[in-house]
Amino acid sequence: MAMDALPTMTAAGEAAHPPAAARAELDRLMARGAAFLGSRYAVMGGAMSWVSERHLVAALSNAGAFGVIANGAMEPDRLAEEIAGTQALTDKPFGVNLITMHPRLDALVDACLAARVGHIVFAGGIPPGAAIRRAKEGGAKVVCFAPALSLAKRLVRAGADALVIEGSEAGGHIGPVSLNVLAQEILPHVTEVPVFVAGGIGRGEAILAFLEMGAAGVQLGTRFVCANESIAHPRFKHAFIRGAARDAVPTVQLDERFPVIPVRALQNAGTRRFMDHQAAVLARFTAGEVSKEAAQLEIEHFWAGALRRAVIDGDVENGSLMAGQSIGMVTREEPAAAILEELMAQAAAAISARRGG
Ligand SMILES: Cc1cc2nc3c(=O)[nH]c(=O)nc-3n(C[C@H](O)[C@H](O)[C@H](O)COP(=O)(O)O)c2cc1C
Repeated sequence: MAMDALPTMTAAGEAAHPPAAARAELDRLMARGAAFLGSRYAVMGGAMSWVSERHLVAALSNAGAFGVIANGAMEPDRLAEEIAGTQALTDKPFGVNLITMHPRLDALVDACLAARVGHIVFAGGIPPGAAIRRAKEGGAKVVCFAPALSLAKRLVRAGADALVIEGSEAGGHIGPVSLNVLAQEILPHVTEVPVFVAGGIGRGEAILAFLEMGAAGVQLGTRFVCANESIAHPRFKHAFIRGAARDAVPTVQLDERFPVIPVRALQNAGTRRFMDHQAAVLARFTAGEVSKEAAQLEIEHFWAGALRRAVIDGDVENGSLMAGQSIGMVTREEPAAAILEELMAQAAAAISARRGG
């Protein structure tokens, strides 16, 4: 055994692997993901609409993670501004997350390419093949969300350079399957491209576990909302600091004839009113007062602008408090670099503890 690999004792009397060796092992586990992203750590800051703008994105990239701008519903000109604003704050790589159903998807891709953004993350559905090709031909790497193994394989064939698998523990729009299961179903079978895992990750020990299962890296959203650099309203951050895992629940659909895309968020007056709203629309549909299409639209429109109201205006009662189950591990406001450092230290300490034990 090399001297630097000898166990040492911590203040608590626990055997510990020397930090430098544990960090080196962590770096080795993250090497593929970090090389793909061009960042120090294989940690993506999950794009969060309204939250992931230039300040948080640059802070994450400057700290060694990989920030991702959330385009949300922004038009190409606004995106170009946001990219330029981010580039003014960091010379480190960052990505842009585009929602595939945006009506100007091609123009958004072009805005990324014109600004030499290295990575485009397509979210919110399977991206059209043409958009993937456009991004790649323009020199960007393409990252896609894979909700199941068959789709993961299809996306790799379509040209995805990396995948994100996001479990239902995550904040925001979610699929039905937990990361615990998706990781087992997908990681052993997709080795052609790096796979990043997301949903419910709040501590370094979990990051280590997924890396050891074969993930190239991780993506976290909820844990970064309360970074000092995040522009989220103080009331939004306060709700995160107070929130527990059991408070972050998926939206409830009242009637299967009127599907509601599940969104994981903290319960508030808005989520309760959404139930009443669905019931009222259903009653009018049953009475023949509105068509099925109009009723569906009325249900969908309930949340329009609601995330902005909560994140920017601080209306935490009626706005949408999208949050993942890892919310209980958000305990204070602190710099993005400190959050990242804590996660990396926890992962390294877990490595040390095993080697020393
Ligand atoms: C407030 C909020 C907004 C989000 N907005 C988006 C988005 O615009 N596009 C997207 O792909 N994912 C979005 N997400 C998901 C994150 O990118 C990320 O995958 C997720 O937060 C990971 O799970 P975690 O919150 O448990 O860490 C959002 C999540 C939150 C909490």
